[in-house]
Amino acid sequence: MSTASAPGKFILFGEHAVVYGKPAIAMAIDMRTEVGVERSSSFTLDRRPLGENRSYYIREIMRRWNGGPLDIEIYSRVPPSSGLGSSAALTVAMLGALRSLESVAEKERIAREAFDVEYTVQGGASPTDTSTSTLGGAVFISEKKEDNFRWSVEKKGKIWNIHSIDVPEMSFVVGITGARSSTKDMVEKVGRVVKRSPFGRDVIEEIGKLVEEGRRALKRGDFVRIGELMNENHELLSLLGASCKELDSLITPIKDKVYGAKLTGAGGGGSIIALTDEPERVARKIEQKGGRAHIVSVDRKGLALDDAE
Ligand code: MEV
Repeated sequence: MSTASAPGKFILFGEHAVVYGKPAIAMAIDMRTEVGVERSSSFTLDRRPLGENRSYYIREIMRRWNGGPLDIEIYSRVPPSSGLGSSAALTVAMLGALRSLESVAEKERIAREAFDVEYTVQGGASPTDTSTSTLGGAVFISEKKEDNFRWSVEKKGKIWNIHSIDVPEMSFVVGITGARSSTKDMVEKVGRVVKRSPFGRDVIEEIGKLVEEGRRALKRGDFVRIGELMNENHELLSLLGASCKELDSLITPIKDKVYGAKLTGAGGGGSIIALTDEPERVARKIEQKGGRAHIVSVDRKGLALDDAE
């Protein structure tokens, strides 16, 4: 049996714009997906025939696998379709387990392959989620190379430089709306806005500038400015059509208790993220408003491989 686990993530700044090569900042969180794989006489997933599985991500990973039949087991604590990187955690952990079985598991290679899987399934993606899940900690993606550069990823003329960065101790609360959202659909939706209107392209540029400022505010440990930029990022994402009433109905009631709050991930449902000094109070308010709240801490491990064959 070869096993691997990988964390979910939230995006602090820059989702969607990062698909167009702009910068982003993401953090791995303490919710993980575990995958075990074992050679077998037929393909099964959680003891059922693999053919019954509906996940496009699993299908795409298995399309790339030519190592013979397997029993696969998946256990995930990352809520699906919630903007918290469940598909990246699954893809990174599953590729980690498969490549361990072949004794070729190496983080950079797995992160690249996981990005390719997401790109194929979603018809467009950035390496933010998959690199963050692989590396753990806080990750800064940018056009330029900076200190603590880890690797770069290129696709269709775009280049993303991946960095591990230090961030101050911060308390974040995730609020899950319960409205499921598809990253593929939301990337396509925003893509239509960006393709059709110069306004959409201007918003992408604005988000890019905001992320750079967010990076500087993080370096200074300036929570007030980080919060303001989170709020602005949410407004800009709303202009692109990425927010929805379920997200706004969790953000509005907590505004006076947080430095800032925004949707996180693809939007259109999914989750919000709030930066606050009063995480319990904010979590209670989110629950009162019908959301599911989690006080999250940063996962420092990233992809963990445990090859016990
Ligand atoms: C999804 O978590 C983040 C998006 O920017 C898509 C991506 O970067 O692949 C919406």
